[in-house]
Amino acid sequence: MKRILICGANGLLGQRLSLMLSSQTEYEVLNTSQERTFVYDHQLFDYTQLDITQKSDVKSLVSSFRPTVIINAAAASNVDWCETHRDEAWRVNVVGVENLIEAARRVGARVIHLSTDYVFDGKHGPYSEEDKPNPISYYGKSKLASENALRIADIPYTLIRTIVLYGGGIGVRDSFPMWVLKSLKAGKAISCAEDQISNPTHVNDLAFAVVKAYEFNRAGIYHVCGSERVSRYEFAVRAAEVFGLDASLIQRARSADLKQEAPRPLVTGFVTLKAETELGLKPMDTRQGLTLLKRELQTPGRA
Ligand SMILES: NC(=O)c1ccc[n+]([C@@H]2O[C@H](COP(=O)([O-])OP(=O)(O)OC[C@H]3O[C@@H](n4cnc5c(N)ncnc54)[C@H](OP(=O)(O)O)[C@@H]3O)[C@@H](O)[C@H]2O)c1
Repeated sequence: MKRILICGANGLLGQRLSLMLSSQTEYEVLNTSQERTFVYDHQLFDYTQLDITQKSDVKSLVSSFRPTVIINAAAASNVDWCETHRDEAWRVNVVGVENLIEAARRVGARVIHLSTDYVFDGKHGPYSEEDKPNPISYYGKSKLASENALRIADIPYTLIRTIVLYGGGIGVRDSFPMWVLKSLKAGKAISCAEDQISNPTHVNDLAFAVVKAYEFNRAGIYHVCGSERVSRYEFAVRAAEVFGLDASLIQRARSADLKQEAPRPLVTGFVTLKAETELGLKPMDTRQGLTLLKRELQTPGRA
């Protein structure tokens, strides 16, 4: 029996991975996250609290469960929070990953880790796996440090970078389209950057890629994102269209005027040819992803 340890199982990606992997009888899945309780029913899913920054806890859990693979979906993923809480961000995004690497080495487990387009500076997107990172935010720097920790670790690993993740999740932090929808439903005007351009990614596409990377035993870096490159303004307008909300509340803005704590790489996006060829990824465009989100939000208990 293959044993899969999911870290950060309460997050947007973690929840989706848990659902996908737990439905396969050939896997024994242990879900872990920082919170004491799991978002899903404890009687249906195996769950143990695990803070990845606690080295001895990581070591003893991994030694007793002896996973075939550790999938790390845990992160401090709020870019502005990371900018102003640097020590805490570093502990989760870098020290936590180092702890997982060390524990994985002891039991011969693979590590599948997630990263971001924010490792790039946004001057020359779309980026391929060979392009040189140059992060401009603290979040991006911490995620690049976690990538480098894996690169030099001398253990089998897969690194999957993604962009602006969205989808239905229980109790998760609002993704960009969820913030747009909540604001428009409340009749609130919002400003969205027309100079931040990237490929928003539905969580199903990312979870699919993670599972295939494991099943096909793929190593190295993969870029995974939605098929359409849009500005945040265009993405917000598309969300309003799909959900039948008032798009006139969405105003165009320049990033420089938004006063966000962390600087943003302006033009990113990925070349996903490698993931399409080697993992079978067929990424959704924004209309498909938002339509799926709409369906998810109508399903009780999914958001
Ligand atoms: N969200 C995006 O737009 C985006 C874009 C590009 C890349 N990514 C990357 O994709 C991955 C998944 O992101 P996501 O959006 O699914 O993240 P998320 O929804 O913010 O979930 C992250 C989860 O990590 C858990 N966590 C935080 N600190 C922890 C710790 N010390 N120990 C154990 N668990 C901890 C939290 O669990 P609890 O709830 O139990 O505290 C949280 O639910 C991350 O690596 C992220 O950097 C995300």
